[in-house]
Amino acid sequence: MPAAKNAKQAAPSADEFRQLIAAWADDPVLFVKTALQATPEPWQAKALEAVRDNDKVAIRSGHGVGKTTYLAWLVLWWLMTRHPAKIAATANTAHQLSDVLWSEIGKWHRRMPEVLRRLLELKSDKVEVIGVPDSFAVARTARREQPEALQGFHSTNMLFVIDEASGVDDLVFEVGQGAMSTAGAKTVMTGNPTRTSGYFFDAFHRMSASWTTMRVGCEDSTQVAPGFLAEMAQRYGAGSNVYRVRDGHPLDYRVMHPATWHAEQDRSNPQATAHTRDIE
Ligand SMILES: Nc1ncnc2c1ncn2[C@@H]1O[C@H](COP(=O)(O)OP(=O)(O)O)[C@@H](O)[C@H]1O
Ligand SMILES: [Mg+2]
Repeated sequence: MPAAKNAKQAAPSADEFRQLIAAWADDPVLFVKTALQATPEPWQAKALEAVRDNDKVAIRSGHGVGKTTYLAWLVLWWLMTRHPAKIAATANTAHQLSDVLWSEIGKWHRRMPEVLRRLLELKSDKVEVIGVPDSFAVARTARREQPEALQGFHSTNMLFVIDEASGVDDLVFEVGQGAMSTAGAKTVMTGNPTRTSGYFFDAFHRMSASWTTMRVGCEDSTQVAPGFLAEMAQRYGAGSNVYRVRDGHPLDYRVMHPATWHAEQDRSNPQATAHTRDIE
């Protein structure tokens, strides 16, 4: 073994580094374990591999299962293993994007070994790969009045990341559709299934043939406090929509408040004039 390997600093040589990156490119779970020194939940491991193997991945889940963390890992994995790599990230609110997703990216970036960490420069709305032109992740707010969050991005390795996608206005997806459907581009959406219509909802229903989908319940993640669901069941009832959504299940019309049901119907069918379905 060369003397350099016994030196105190554990920094890999340029050759070792290239080998590591090549191994990580096809193994996001290995990347998370070795580069970020994290232990993915089984669902997170499965979902990381789903993005490696598929272009369109949608995950509906319960509250606090680790989906923002999962997206932060994806962003770092993509930037470290694709050159060039471009990521457009958005979320239902500016708060969710900047204070939650971007801060989660920062948290895991800080945990990377120095030799890797210095390859990325974190800014408030951007992560840049040092020395690689056109390689970055950018945070773009999604609002109906500003629907171009996902529009106009192109790259050999393009990744679209949408957190709390259920709350993102459909116009944002409509405007971004061209870029998102470019050959080879990948899209990953996560969210609580809070609505019964719209782009995120459709991924699990009428458009499900185009998407690889997962449901993650609170019981599937050790990140959720054990008493959380029991408390929700006690407070709202295990059959209530509040409970269902918190656990990643779709809304149940039978337990929906009439006003909400009507609002959802109006959104999915603006022409609807009569609502004949029974509401309990
Ligand atoms: N595999 C993991 N290992 C360690 N911490 C994790 C892991 N997954 C999630 N977390 C932490 O658990 C908390 C909740 O995760 P988060 O991604 O915010 O959940 P969600 O977006 O589903 O509500 C965060 O503090 C996050 O950093
Ligand atoms: Mg989250």
